[in-house]
Amino acid sequence: MAGQGAGPGPSPDAHAGTHAGTHAGTHAGTHAGTHSGTIESSLVETRTFLPPPAFAAAARVPSMAAYDAMVARAETDPEGFWAEQAKRLAWATPWTAVVEGGFPRAGTDPAPTWFVGGTLNATTSCVDRHASGARANKPAIHFEGEPGDTRTLTYAELSREVNRTANALAALGVVAGDFVAIYLPMIPEAAIAMLACARLGAPHTVVFGGFSADALADRIADCGAKVVITADGGWRRGVVLPLKPNVDKAIAKSLAAGVSSVEHVVVVKRCGNAVAWSDRDLWWHETVGPAPTEHAAQAFPSEHPLYSLYTSGTTGKPKGILHTTGGYLTVAAYSTAIVFDLRDEDVYWCTADIGWVTGHSYVVYGPLALGATVLLYEGAPNQPGPDRFWAIVAKWKVSVFYTAPTAVRSFMRWGDEHPAKHDLSSLRLLGSVGEPINPEAWMWYRTAIGGDRCPIVDTWWQTETGAIMISPLPGATPTRPGSATRPLPGIAAAIVHRDGTPCAPNEGGFLVVTRPWPSMLRTIFGDHERFVATYFGEVEGVYFAGDGARQDSDGNFWIMGRVDDVINVAGHRLSTMEIESALVSHPKVAEAAVVGRPDELKGHAIVAFVTPRNGVAADAALAAELRAHVASQIGALARPEEVRFAEQLPKTRSGKIMRRLLRELASGSTARGDTTTLEDQGVLEQLAQSFSNDD
Ligand code: WT7
Repeated sequence: MAGQGAGPGPSPDAHAGTHAGTHAGTHAGTHAGTHSGTIESSLVETRTFLPPPAFAAAARVPSMAAYDAMVARAETDPEGFWAEQAKRLAWATPWTAVVEGGFPRAGTDPAPTWFVGGTLNATTSCVDRHASGARANKPAIHFEGEPGDTRTLTYAELSREVNRTANALAALGVVAGDFVAIYLPMIPEAAIAMLACARLGAPHTVVFGGFSADALADRIADCGAKVVITADGGWRRGVVLPLKPNVDKAIAKSLAAGVSSVEHVVVVKRCGNAVAWSDRDLWWHETVGPAPTEHAAQAFPSEHPLYSLYTSGTTGKPKGILHTTGGYLTVAAYSTAIVFDLRDEDVYWCTADIGWVTGHSYVVYGPLALGATVLLYEGAPNQPGPDRFWAIVAKWKVSVFYTAPTAVRSFMRWGDEHPAKHDLSSLRLLGSVGEPINPEAWMWYRTAIGGDRCPIVDTWWQTETGAIMISPLPGATPTRPGSATRPLPGIAAAIVHRDGTPCAPNEGGFLVVTRPWPSMLRTIFGDHERFVATYFGEVEGVYFAGDGARQDSDGNFWIMGRVDDVINVAGHRLSTMEIESALVSHPKVAEAAVVGRPDELKGHAIVAFVTPRNGVAADAALAAELRAHVASQIGALARPEEVRFAEQLPKTRSGKIMRRLLRELASGSTARGDTTTLEDQGVLEQLAQSFSNDD
């Protein structure tokens, strides 16, 4: 399974040779409280790349004048602007109001609602309307498995598969409003399953295949999923990922704790590995295979839930981000149209796994809403060799390619000879997402992959925003390596101080969105108060993204990283608290604190500071045990790179762990800042000396 962007992924083997080091500028000031002051002009990236004239001439948004006009239009009449964008979709009933309500302010205030009174079925826009028209025989999905097997589904074929699956799920008792969990590799059935759920109005929760059985159990329990769709296994670097066995473990865990909501498990036969079987299990080919290929789509209200997707927040408990139908799909389609400028002849490849929001918005919903041809690749970027991605680009003539900076940095390290071996002339546009892309990686991407010819779109957004918020438009925006440039027309982004006042040019501050947008999350499933407090309780009257950023004097946004206890590891978003909870659940651990240390390849690496319980030997064996424990609690993606032991953690006199000091220690420096509030100075000594890493 490709990671967020098919980077080194959660497998530890790809991480060999990783070492600490920051990439210039981009990770400066990643943490809370460090976003004040003006960035010196010497750090400001000045190289500017203009859209190639031929690209601009053919683009939907062909110039900055056109961009400015769209921005002005959206500012003067946001409702009219979004109404126009919503017309890209097929609606069963038109809306009567574009938006009702504003940002929540306190307590249990509701989120705004969009396209009120309108009804639609997401799959009419993403499948049916293409399947019955001129695109019926156009490939919707080209699939390449890691072993090299391939499959192409036209829109007509995709429609039949989605209908079959919807009929099969309905026969199992799935009705509108029921949650379905999807735990699949990147195979066509992943997209088919999502769309079949959408067709029934049954919100899906996709769980990334790299998450452990425990993490899967928590997500299934939180949403109360009635059905789980999985596979026997998935191929990753020549090895079978045990998906069905993890589902079995997850359900066993829930049953041991009381009840499991799961009535059926539908299993795609992918790898042919032996799997245990129980009464609730059904093979996909025996269930979906014989089901009828006709299914009448029911229209649901615009605000009907489409999916929830779990993401890490600042507490130990992941948040079920809930997206609804009309507003989400409007911005997914709009952003795909203007950021990727997709054309009917494009072969579009977003390398993200469907377990992440990028896979939802830019593998499935956005491109399919436009009737595009998408490529799905199941496996690792270096299987069988480090040129696999470039072999795929050449073979399928991929024209638009979207991946993560961590992947770009891996490719860069693997060497220019791998892309050079293949004909990449089909590429016309490159994208980046998931974390700040450092200028060196940006430049390498541009030359080694893009042949100095392809514009690069560095897209900033979040699970919560549903769609791209800040990005160059490839035919219009002058780009600067490392900057996501400007907000999409219609999106009101700003950088402010904690009190809401705007920051000056180049002054670091909090990235916020000042006006509701159609694809914003509507709630945290089961915890609306947390939703209001997290996103609307930090800076009054605006959406708080949790990122620090600055805007240069030309208006370009430079994202500096998270300002909360969320870290981004190889494009995977993780909560330090979640990893700490996993550590302290181990019987040998008394206390733990987790921080991110800047890492050349992965953006950040996880460093855990641990105080063992009395009488427990703090040795390499314990470090290995704890790393394995975190992997089994959350998934290999959360396994700490380093575990350091100390009899105590550095605390203030009031008992608060001084994370700033830990971050400084983790990044190899001695604690530079003010340590006068530290209760016990000896603690730092101890932590600096203790170091354990069993890699
Ligand atoms: C966080 C959201 C949105 C899809 C992938 C991640 C970071 C995302 C960029 C970018 C700098 C970025 C932010 C954000 N991030 N894209 N282009 N430049 N930082 O989704 O898991 O919800 O994580 O990823 O820190 O808050 P996610």
